[in-house]
Amino acid sequence: MPNKPFFLPTMLLPSSPFVYSFLLLLSLFLIFLFGPQILPAKSQHPGISTADEIEDLALFHRASVTTSNTISHLGITNPRPKIAFLFLTNTDLPFAPLWDRFFNNNQNLYNIYIHTDPLRKLSFPTNSLLKSRFVIPSKPTARASPTLISAARRLLANALIDDPLNLYFALVSQSCIPLHSFHYIYHSLFGNSTLNAFATQHKHKSYIEILANEPTLQDRYDARGHNVMLPEIPFEEFRVGSQFFTLSKRHALMVIKERKLWRKFRLPCINTDSCYPEEHYFPTFLSMKDPRGCTHYTLTRVNWTDSVGGHPHLYGALEVTPRLVYSLRQSNSTYSHFFARKFSQDCLESLLEIADRVIFKD
Ligand SMILES: *[C@@H]1O[C@H](CO)[C@@H](O)[C@H](O)[C@H]1NC(C)=O
Ligand SMILES: *[C@@H]1O[C@H](CO)[C@@H](O)[C@H](O)[C@H]1NC(C)=O
Ligand SMILES: *[C@@H]1O[C@H](CO)[C@@H](O)[C@H](O)[C@H]1NC(C)=O
Repeated sequence: MPNKPFFLPTMLLPSSPFVYSFLLLLSLFLIFLFGPQILPAKSQHPGISTADEIEDLALFHRASVTTSNTISHLGITNPRPKIAFLFLTNTDLPFAPLWDRFFNNNQNLYNIYIHTDPLRKLSFPTNSLLKSRFVIPSKPTARASPTLISAARRLLANALIDDPLNLYFALVSQSCIPLHSFHYIYHSLFGNSTLNAFATQHKHKSYIEILANEPTLQDRYDARGHNVMLPEIPFEEFRVGSQFFTLSKRHALMVIKERKLWRKFRLPCINTDSCYPEEHYFPTFLSMKDPRGCTHYTLTRVNWTDSVGGHPHLYGALEVTPRLVYSLRQSNSTYSHFFARKFSQDCLESLLEIADRVIFKD
C-alpha cells in the first residue's frame, strides 16, 4: 500500500489541466447562477446588480486605458479644448430649447452626453442640437441609492473615451439652466489662451463643493450602519457637497479609476432618510486625493431655503425675472455661478424670453 497516497493524484494528473479548467468553468457558471442567492443580498434596494457592476468596471477600465493626456498623436493642428456637458436625467430635457441657444454657434467647443432612464424614450424639439447627441448606455437610477454615483461615472467614462479634447466635465440635470453665455463659461474655465489649455491641464482645478462640519454629516456617515465606512473612510475625512460639479480631466480619470471607496459607498443604506451617496462620494474622494486641486465650491447655484424632504426650492414661471438671474449668479467665490437649479418645466417660456437680453449677456 505504499503507493496508495500517490494513486489518486496520478490518476487525475494526465487530464488535470482539463479537469481544472472544467471545474473552474463549472464554478464560475454556478456562481453566476446561484451567486445572487448564496451571497448576502446586498442590493435589494435600488442598487447595483453584479451584472451592472461588471459592465461598469469594464467601461471604466476602457476609459482609463484609452484616454491619453497628450493630444500630439491626434494630428490636429491648433486643437481647442472642449467642455463635456453631462446631462443626468430620468425624465425629458425640458430646457433643451434654452440649451440649444446656449450651444448655438459654438461648434467644436463642446460635446453633449446624456444619461437617461433606459426604459424611456427622450423627446426633443424638432432640430434641437441636443437631439442628435450621444445618449450613453444608461441604467435606471433612484434616490437614496448608489445608482446616481454610477450614472455620473458612466457619463464621465463615456466622455473620456469619446473625445480626447474634452478637458472639463460639467454635470447638469434636467432642471438646471445656464446663467451665462457659453463663451463666458468657456473662457472662465480655459482662460483666454485656449492653446495653452492642454499644456496646463495638470493645473486645472475642479469646481466641486467640499464641506465638513455640516450638522447632518454624522447621520449620513452612519446611514449604512455604525462603523461600516471604516477603515477606508474615517469620519474625519467624510465630506458633503453638491451633486453637480465641473471636474477637470485629471480628476475625471481619478474618479472612474476609483475602487476602494466605492466598495463602501455601493452598500445600501439602512437609514434611507440620511442616504445621499452622490453628495458624499465625489467630495470625499477628491478631498482625500487632491484637496488643493479642488476649489471646494460649486458653479451650480441651488436654493436650499425652506427645502422640503431633501428637495431644494423649485422655481416657478412667475419667479423668472432678470433680477432672479442676476441674484443667482452672485457668488462669494472666484467665479460667479455658471448654472442654477431647480427650475420647473413651466419656466421655459419666461427663460427664453430673457435668454438673449439677460442670461447670455455677460
Ligand atoms: C480674458 O480677457 C478678458 C479681457 O479681454 C479679461 O477680462 C479676463 O479676465 C480674461 N480671462 C482670463 C481667465 O484670463
Ligand atoms: C430661495 O427660495 C425662497 C423660498 O423657498 C425664496 O423666498 C427666495 O427668494 C429664494 N432666493 C433666491 C435668491 O432666489
Ligand atoms: C455669501 O456669504 C454671506 C456671508 O457668509 C452669506 O450670507 C451669503 O448667503 C453668501 N452668498 C452666496 C451666494 O453664497
